[in-house]
Amino acid sequence: MSESVFRPGLLIGKAAFVTGGGSGIGAGIAKRLAAQGAKVALLGRKAEKLEKTAAEIEAAGGVARCFPADVRSYEELAKAIDAAAEAFGGLQILINSAAGNFLAPAASLSANGFRSVIEIDLCGSFNACRAAFQHLAKQGGSIVSITATQATIPTPLQVHAGAAKAGIEKMTRDLALEWGRSGIRVNAVAPGPIADTEGMARLAPPGVEDGLKKRVPMQRYGTIDEVCEAVTYLVSPAAAYVTGATLLVDGGSSLIGAGPFLELMG
Ligand code: HXC
Ligand code: NAP
Repeated sequence: MSESVFRPGLLIGKAAFVTGGGSGIGAGIAKRLAAQGAKVALLGRKAEKLEKTAAEIEAAGGVARCFPADVRSYEELAKAIDAAAEAFGGLQILINSAAGNFLAPAASLSANGFRSVIEIDLCGSFNACRAAFQHLAKQGGSIVSITATQATIPTPLQVHAGAAKAGIEKMTRDLALEWGRSGIRVNAVAPGPIADTEGMARLAPPGVEDGLKKRVPMQRYGTIDEVCEAVTYLVSPAAAYVTGATLLVDGGSSLIGAGPFLELMG
């Protein structure tokens, strides 16, 4: 983890719940929030991934709790969020990073394949927001959902993920509208291609990486740390009047549309 530009201890006294916190971008965010002083709860299906990330957080002096559960089950998620709020004496931050994705042509994607991604990404994010509402409303709070540029850029082989992430961005604006009066800010971060992640391992078959990087205006993939900085900004007092926003962290890749993925169609 590289050093943050934000002042150390920025989030002391806060508690955060991170879905998808066991790996990749979600784990990076959990570590960053913990390094800034927040107590963090990690949720994902596989306990061993959560435990590894929690151990890293604790080895660095932070506080972490693990909640193995599936975001598609409102009951499991609500139980985990209630338990985290109880353990930490409240909850001020929710990060939705849990997601599922793969490359698939729409013409052969099964209805269940489409539904699975919608249920994990979109329904899972709503489930977490809804279950966290009562806790976030107590002292004011902040939600950040991790979306993707596919939400707005029509992208081949990504109809399922694009529809799910577009739904999350629309939900972000709707919840910001409804929950501003409850002291809850609701925002999203839309990363472009991020290096060393499961997402890019799934979306960039071997051999296409150099070509993909050349199509990004900044000529490189982003880093997990760069996504973490954007999230830290949004949950911090620096963003006290920011709600309903989607912050692109994509090196400008959305400016050029779906070019790189069109090449993957052959
Ligand atoms: C076509 C596929 C498929 C594939 C699964 N399915 N993989 N269809 N191509 N590669 C279909 C299955 O055939 C099945 O439909 C349905 O999806 C559900 O599959 P299951 O394996 O039963 O689902 P489940 O166990 O719930 O797993 C969900 C999953 C899985 C999304 C399919 O891949 C997963 O758990 N992923 C989590 C990790 C992940 O994806 N991380 C990357 C996030 S990155 P049928 O009809 O056969 O029953 C990301 C990048 C964003 O989002 C953008 C970057 C630029
Ligand atoms: P990742 O490591 O696979 O992260 C996804 C996490 O979600 C995993 O920890 C996974 O853990 C969890 N998850 C999946 N299905 C779940 C379910 N049903 N219930 C609970 N947890 C579930 O992939 P990543 O690339 O870091 O992606 C993280 C986020 O960034 C995602 O929202 C993704 O869409 C977004 N994003 C990534 C990129 C990129 O370049 N990587 C770009 C844009 C957006 P379990 O399998 O243990 O459940």
